[in-house]
Amino acid sequence: MTDSALVELAFSMLPRAYCPYSHFPVGAALLCDDGSVFTGCNVENAAFGSSFCAERTALVKAISEGRRDGFVKLAIAGNSDDYCWPCGSCRQMLYEFAPELEVLIAKGDHAYVSLPLKELLPYGFGPDYLK
Ligand code: THU
Repeated sequence: MTDSALVELAFSMLPRAYCPYSHFPVGAALLCDDGSVFTGCNVENAAFGSSFCAERTALVKAISEGRRDGFVKLAIAGNSDDYCWPCGSCRQMLYEFAPELEVLIAKGDHAYVSLPLKELLPYGFGPDYLK
């Protein structure tokens, strides 16, 4: 799958976002090394702290389907003027399973930038510390 196709898949998730509080839909698409893709959207909650980001929705869907590794690329899409940068919690969650991940970050005009997760989360704390 091309990078732009993965980004468009992330954009296709925006209508599924449940975001009655922020009115800020986010979509995500997580590509695996076998070509499979797990998508996600943000899912908010009246108790705001119980909300899920789009990236973590996609990741948790993958883990719950039995995937633990082989994550190659993640696309994140939002209707924002600036790139829809992933929040700190999502960077940390992704680092646990995919420190080598490439992250495609899009903005409302569908332009995107590509960065390694290790640049988004330098000096990350991961599972190796707890072995
Ligand atoms: N959001 C994401 O889905 N991903 C991020 O990395 C940043 C923020 C969502 C959470 C919330 O539903 C809305 O955007 C506003 O913060």
